[in-house]
Amino acid sequence: MTRSVRSRIALAVICAFAVAACRQDATRPAMPEAPLTADVHSFARPAEARVTHVALELEADFSSRVLRGRATLTIARADDARDVVLDTRGLEIARVLDQQRQPLTFRLEPEVPHLGRPLVVSLPAAGDRVVVEYQTAPDAAALQWLSPGQTAGKTHPYLYSHGQAILTRTWIPTQDSPGIRQTYDATITVPTPLRVVMSAEMPPTDGVDAGQGRRTFRFRMNQPIPPYLIAIAVGDLAFRELGPRTGVYTEPAMLARAADELVDLERMIAAAETLGGPYRWGRYDVLVLPPSFPFGGMENPRLTFATPTILAGDRSLVSLLAHELAHSWSGNLVSNATWGDFWLNEGFTTYFEYRIMEALYGAPRASMLAVLGRNDLLREMADLPPDDTKLAIDLAGRDPDEGTTSVPYEKGAALLATIEQAVGRDRFDPWLRGYFNRHAFTSITTTQFIADLQQELIRGDQALLARIDLPAWLDAPGLPASTFVPVSPAFTQVEEQARRFAQGARASTLAVGGWAPQQWQHLLERLRTRPLTAAQLRDLDTTHALSATGNSEILFAWLRVAVARQYDPAVPALERFLTSQGRRKFLKPLYEDLMKTPWGRPIARRVYAAARPGYHAVSTQTIDGIVGENP
Ligand code: BES
Ligand code: ZN
Repeated sequence: MTRSVRSRIALAVICAFAVAACRQDATRPAMPEAPLTADVHSFARPAEARVTHVALELEADFSSRVLRGRATLTIARADDARDVVLDTRGLEIARVLDQQRQPLTFRLEPEVPHLGRPLVVSLPAAGDRVVVEYQTAPDAAALQWLSPGQTAGKTHPYLYSHGQAILTRTWIPTQDSPGIRQTYDATITVPTPLRVVMSAEMPPTDGVDAGQGRRTFRFRMNQPIPPYLIAIAVGDLAFRELGPRTGVYTEPAMLARAADELVDLERMIAAAETLGGPYRWGRYDVLVLPPSFPFGGMENPRLTFATPTILAGDRSLVSLLAHELAHSWSGNLVSNATWGDFWLNEGFTTYFEYRIMEALYGAPRASMLAVLGRNDLLREMADLPPDDTKLAIDLAGRDPDEGTTSVPYEKGAALLATIEQAVGRDRFDPWLRGYFNRHAFTSITTTQFIADLQQELIRGDQALLARIDLPAWLDAPGLPASTFVPVSPAFTQVEEQARRFAQGARASTLAVGGWAPQQWQHLLERLRTRPLTAAQLRDLDTTHALSATGNSEILFAWLRVAVARQYDPAVPALERFLTSQGRRKFLKPLYEDLMKTPWGRPIARRVYAAARPGYHAVSTQTIDGIVGENP
């Protein structure tokens, strides 16, 4: 065992005791225990004063593209605390008041790259409330304001937020750290006939009249969540029930398609509960967003946000919902305490996603996903600095976005699969359920994970410890030798067909009958590095209509093959894809590949110039770094 792992394990044990001791100290109920690890992405000093509840009263002004109003924060403070430090970025602060509406002294400190500006407020002598009157900037990174033309209905504007990792501070002045859990409520006023949804309990009303063609909607989240999970959407939204605790919100024009694609949602929850224990959030609804949504999905509690690119028409992309649903346990119930521990969110969730898919659709489908994931990981790791291929990474001075590679997802999932293989599901599954229960509604570090694993599963079993080889997982770059390797028999024949095609077989002779979409995806990923000719690509596309597929993963994989071979006839389809959706995972590799060659660069610049105004800030932030801000 390396010294670093040994000391981490020792620290884990000390921490576990410290938390237990804190919990037993009933003399200071007002001050919940501070996170054990400092969050390098927050200015908050939670040991002195921390936000426990956020009450929002905001109005959406679509003409100036700002949210305006106030946030009333409930603060738990140490006896000697003088200030509370909040995170803000781009917020215009009008006034800060105490509970009696008397002004409080405050100052906005200078901007720090990635992080924004600390808002330091002198705590009131009496009372535990701080009221911040403010408005957001029109270019707030969390918010995207869509014109009617950017929506499906083309008639009404639309607004939605995305908070992860540190964007909530661009629309709410709070302590924006995943280790500082907060409850929230909100009163949101919008123009009629728009409707508001949030990641909270929503009363089943269409809002109340607020005069001047406006309506007000109320929300409440009583379970403490990390602030990156506070989310809002405003638009012409319709709702359809899918089951007793599930439903889908989207624009009316999309409702039928969305409801059809998501029919399995209720069954998915049942499968997830078998693995994770009871679903603790009441309802599970899905909001299908306009195409610019920069992610596949976002696990906002009670209301997953999803890209419309999952609407393949054949339910073939629902693993994405299995993933977001799994976050209801890993991520939302038990959260990463800092962004360096992000793998605790995404690795557990990816493992959990594969288990849900196995339970619902069988092991062959789950193992195809696991193999696709592993291949992704191996390809991406080859290009990453070794330190960024570790599970828990050092993000000090960096944007947490730099940690969103496939490493936390797939290497994290591979660790859990490896442990599962080593102990068997009879032991692993109860441990996993126990882990969610022991840490429910808390945010934990990698060190606390190790402590839990040691105390609750390994329990001093040296042979087991050696088999898993924890130090290799936690401290070393790359994939350890002990890694469980998923295999998919369904992919063996795909690889054979890829070989045949690359060696000159006609596309019409490929044995693709009855192939699952994941098999097509695998075929195309295999062909990406093959020196195919334009004639071969034409044969493949005309025979199998790849440019016209409604499956976004297959289209993406095909376009990557086409770009790798500088295949001009696919450029119109490429252009359509890049301008019709804004999912960063699809945009980033395509623009990167284009920018690598003199053939691709003008295409990237031309397409990006046209598409950029339609993308969310999360995507432009990334693509600006690849193509340039003024392409
Ligand atoms: N929570 C993530 C999205 C995220 C991560 C946003 C980090 C911002 C920073 C979400 O659960 C996710 O992983 N989405 C994936 C889909 C999933 C099936 C891998 C995505 O959007 O592609
Ligand atoms: Zn995720």
